[in-house]
Amino acid sequence: MTPGAADDLAAIVTKLRAAGCVFAEDEARLLAATARSPADLAAMVDRRVSGFPLEHVLGWAEFCGLRIAVSDGVFVPRRRSEFLVRQAVAFAAAAVAPVPAGPLGESGPGRGHSVIVDLCCGSGAIGVAVAAAVDNAELYAADIEPAAVACARQNVASVGGHVFQGDLYDPLPASLRGRVDVLVVNAPYVPTSEIVFLPPEARLHEPAVALDGGVDGVDVHRRVAAEAPGWLAPDGRLLIETSARQATKTAAAMTASGLVPVITRDDDLGAIVVIGSRGAVP
Ligand SMILES: C[S@@+](CC[C@H](N)C(=O)[O-])C[C@H]1O[C@@H](n2cnc3c(N)ncnc32)[C@H](O)[C@@H]1O
Repeated sequence: MTPGAADDLAAIVTKLRAAGCVFAEDEARLLAATARSPADLAAMVDRRVSGFPLEHVLGWAEFCGLRIAVSDGVFVPRRRSEFLVRQAVAFAAAAVAPVPAGPLGESGPGRGHSVIVDLCCGSGAIGVAVAAAVDNAELYAADIEPAAVACARQNVASVGGHVFQGDLYDPLPASLRGRVDVLVVNAPYVPTSEIVFLPPEARLHEPAVALDGGVDGVDVHRRVAAEAPGWLAPDGRLLIETSARQATKTAAAMTASGLVPVITRDDDLGAIVVIGSRGAVP
């Protein structure tokens, strides 16, 4: 540490704490390590103090041990989504190599590769984390927001995937129909009337299209589930992250489309994922 650096860092911690940053010491260290110059650091601290999410200020988020680029206006991947990734990895691995039945029915004869689609991909964090964890994954990601698509293209390059822009399945290549092993979705699921109660970092710095799930929060889930059977491989799975309150509605959307849903949860992460398949899961 250069002379005076400790004092500078302490001053940053004080500023961040005064602005209400709970993890001021950690944030100050991250900002100092990411800034390219003292002027850059001062500008970053000012942005953070004015309320920008730490990840937007840094330009990246840590997710599943990976550094994911996150630009302004793009949804910041949440820690709880690591549960969605874990589940998706189990099914993708089963598509690649022979796997005996697991607790969620993640068995598979193994075809040597897996086709993963990350719908409503935002930064692409979820698809990238899944593809990075299994061999021979083909990743396709899509989002409606141009800023998210640009960001996802940056991230997905690390695993050699493809990113498309458009409404849900519309931009995907038709050649994927009936071939998707793992359709992984973290779509918006906050009921419209509850957006006002979100923390300002989300409400003011993430676009409404990334948060607003319609009147009961399940509008996008219904649309995703309705078309999923046409895209899934015979033993493919649809995995949708949802909330405790909406889980039964997300599951009902899968049932309505002819899939058999199973609700899974991780209490440590506060995460709920509904998994849909064509047949009953053992
Ligand atoms: C809650 S964010 C999640 C982003 C990403 N899956 C993640 O977990 O970091 C929801 C994303 O869905 C996208 N989205 C919303 N409606 C969409 C639609 N009709 N078609 C495609 N993407 C959509 C938003 O642009 C946003 O990036």
